[in-house]
Amino acid sequence: MPIEWNEKDGIFHLYNSKVSYLIQIVYGKYPAHLYWGRRVQTNQASAILTFKGRAFSPSTEPDHPQFSLDTLPQEYPTFGNGDFRTPGYQLQTADGSTITELVYDSHEIFQGKRPIEGLPASYVEDESEAETLVITLVDSKLGIGLHLQYTIYQDFEVITRSVAFEHLGSQDVQILKCMSMSVDFHHADWDWLHLHGTWGRERHIEREPLHQGTQMISSARGASSHQHNPFVALLSKSADEEHGDVYGVSLIYSGNFQASIDVDPFETARLSMGINPFDFSWLLKPGGFFQAPEVLMVYSSEGLGGMSRTFHKFLRKRVCRGVYRDITRPILINNWEATYFNFNERKLKEIADAGKALGIELFVLDDGWFGKRENAKSSLGDWVVDKKKLPNGLEGLSEYIRKKGMKFGLWVEPEMVSPDSDLYRKHPDWCLHVPGRNRTPSRNQLVLDLSREEVCDYLINTFTEVFQSAQISYVKWDMNRNMTEVGSAALPPERQRETAHRYMLGLYRIVDKLTERFPDILFESCSGGGGRFDPGMLYYMPQTWTSDNTDAAVRLKIQYGTSIVYPAVVMGSHVSDVPNHQVGRTTPLVMRCHVAMTGNLGFELNIDKLSGDDKKLVAEQIKQYHKIKEIVCFGDLYRLMSPFAGMDSAWMYVSEDKGKAVLFYFKTMASPNPPFLRLKLRGLDNEKIYRINNGGKDYFGSELMQMGLNLPLIKNDFSSYLYYLEALQ
Ligand code: DGJ
Repeated sequence: MPIEWNEKDGIFHLYNSKVSYLIQIVYGKYPAHLYWGRRVQTNQASAILTFKGRAFSPSTEPDHPQFSLDTLPQEYPTFGNGDFRTPGYQLQTADGSTITELVYDSHEIFQGKRPIEGLPASYVEDESEAETLVITLVDSKLGIGLHLQYTIYQDFEVITRSVAFEHLGSQDVQILKCMSMSVDFHHADWDWLHLHGTWGRERHIEREPLHQGTQMISSARGASSHQHNPFVALLSKSADEEHGDVYGVSLIYSGNFQASIDVDPFETARLSMGINPFDFSWLLKPGGFFQAPEVLMVYSSEGLGGMSRTFHKFLRKRVCRGVYRDITRPILINNWEATYFNFNERKLKEIADAGKALGIELFVLDDGWFGKRENAKSSLGDWVVDKKKLPNGLEGLSEYIRKKGMKFGLWVEPEMVSPDSDLYRKHPDWCLHVPGRNRTPSRNQLVLDLSREEVCDYLINTFTEVFQSAQISYVKWDMNRNMTEVGSAALPPERQRETAHRYMLGLYRIVDKLTERFPDILFESCSGGGGRFDPGMLYYMPQTWTSDNTDAAVRLKIQYGTSIVYPAVVMGSHVSDVPNHQVGRTTPLVMRCHVAMTGNLGFELNIDKLSGDDKKLVAEQIKQYHKIKEIVCFGDLYRLMSPFAGMDSAWMYVSEDKGKAVLFYFKTMASPNPPFLRLKLRGLDNEKIYRINNGGKDYFGSELMQMGLNLPLIKNDFSSYLYYLEALQ
């Protein structure tokens, strides 16, 4: 039984072979956090709680003056009864008060895991995989119930959490804040790590010590954002890639979020995560229910690398869905950087022909195929093929591609509308806006109001038609701006601050319907590159365009940072032209191929214009990718040298049975008269003998891991090496 309830002490113990999570209901009322970490056996778990009356920390329990909510490690803290730290939630009642008294009422433990209404969430394929605990707290004066939901998986070091409010009372209540989780750590001697960036520079790693006060990341952009990924980790001071305690939390949500860590004067640390409370509220009517998004909580005793590998497996197997979940993806060529908006059918066919000749399997037609879209100034919303560019329509082009034995894919940006479009002229109130205020454009476009049911229905119908109009095997779902003037013409004043979350619920409904209607289409989500790279989108679309920056050197950092949470199979990763369109840098084709081969390989250039030698090299690399793609996409990742630390980067993927591995080594700037570098590999089998690069030398796994592999002395900038390791039988 992975969830035990010790009624005598009021303790819940959630565990599997690696992890324990303990909660105690103190005085039959207050859910206290006892422990989260490496698996423990417990006898005196409640002894971990010590109470001491502290000045200015009031007690809600007259018989226990030593007790205070202010010092209790809590599972879901409130504000207003003595805990002066950051609360998990805040409600406002009809009389204006924000005081609540939610205390333990009941609990339920069941096998498996129930879906979360309207939101993406992790799932089980069989009830025996996991067990779920729902603790219900009630404020009897308000008639409000709060469900704290925890699931522990048998085979993953993962606990999932979410919360939901249920209103059984009689007066309206405004939810002002509703975080999805809160955990109080009994000390604050941690570093925190998060992934930050901007367009073209996503998910760069930052690691800093915790300090007194609050450290926070968030998005108020209407998307999870390029700026901050909905993920943070706490690491013990000595934790590195292999060793140490690491706690990672990741929100399954694609909109505004907040993650914060508060250190109080007694050196405890409160980690919480959920929908960003800034500019959010939700009117809960009697009979209503509000569900917050789910958080994945990973504990690793094997450092950051261990945490990443757990996230990778879990996201691949229990968040991503659909026919593509467990298979490698076709190698694609996308026309965007080759042509931008300036293409015709002939040009596209030339790219497809050249791609096919080199072994590319899927041709993707990007932006510019519809309306009068000569540039980014018009036509979003008018999803009718431009016959000037494509006289035979999508069907004609798709037929040509398919006859060649390739698949056909299409770019769309459903959530947006150009002011210069028939859709906008017909429905000017269908975009997010505030009456009497400016409608601030970004990339010349406005955001459709997906909080409105009729707008969502319209998009479902429109894109059902588009996807049926030609045989489409792949869709790139783009979203190229963030939200401004967030308001909805369809919502009453007291619900205006619900708009951004309702937008997400609308978006999830649309993509749920379309991915269900078109189960054989491979969907890739995108937001100006990786502006919405999160588990929420991955639930519907099993891969994401990692960044609009295709420069191989910058991509080392972006992909390395992304790998902290996300597996290689979900990272769209393309070889593009030089000088690179984003940074003007020229890197060798082989390095561009190798970097792209550490994710989901694709191409995005005028491949027909490559020299004969370059074409030969591309064909060879494609062949090589076929050999390694199962290992890269589904193997275990070991990061060996960080591009954030210097000029050398290296990481490797090891197949589940440890029979095969692929090592990538990159050097960005060569240094004069360099030292010899010896790289210790990881994740191999000590006893197995590995042959390197087919015909190279043979080494024991222990040799490679303990003594290391000599790296070449490098003279050239932007050098890259791919080593293929195969165990001898
Ligand atoms: C942004 C995407 O990230 C690009 O790859 C491309 O699809 C453009 N949008 C098209 O407008």
